[in-house]
Amino acid sequence: MARSSQDNARLVQLPQLNLEFMVESSSARELSLLSFLLEKEVPLSHSCAGQAVCGTCAVFLEGDKIPTPTPSELKLIQKQGKDGHCRFACQIFFPHEAFVWIVKTPYW
Ligand code: FES
Repeated sequence: MARSSQDNARLVQLPQLNLEFMVESSSARELSLLSFLLEKEVPLSHSCAGQAVCGTCAVFLEGDKIPTPTPSELKLIQKQGKDGHCRFACQIFFPHEAFVWIVKTPYW
C-alpha cells in the first residue's frame, strides 16, 4: 500500500509483482530506475541498453517527486506516440528527497 513521502520513505513499489524495494540514498542520481530494477533481479526489457532509443523499457509511474522527462525521453515518448503517463525506465533517475513510486508495466 502506498505510503506518504512524509515518512522519509524512498520506496519503489511493484504491485503487479507484489514487491517493494527501499532505495538507498547512495542510489540517488546514480542509477536509473531500469538499472535499479535489474540490480534487484526484476526483469524489464531494455533492447538498447538504456540509450533512449528502443522504448522497450516503458513503464507507468505514479507517485511523488517524479522527475520531468529529459529531452531525449520526451523525444522518445513523442516518437512512440505514448501519452504523458508512459515513461522510460532507463531515463528516470531517483530524486534526493523521500518518495514513493508505484511502477507498472505491460511487460509483467
Ligand atoms: S532501454 Fe531502450 S529506451 Fe530504455
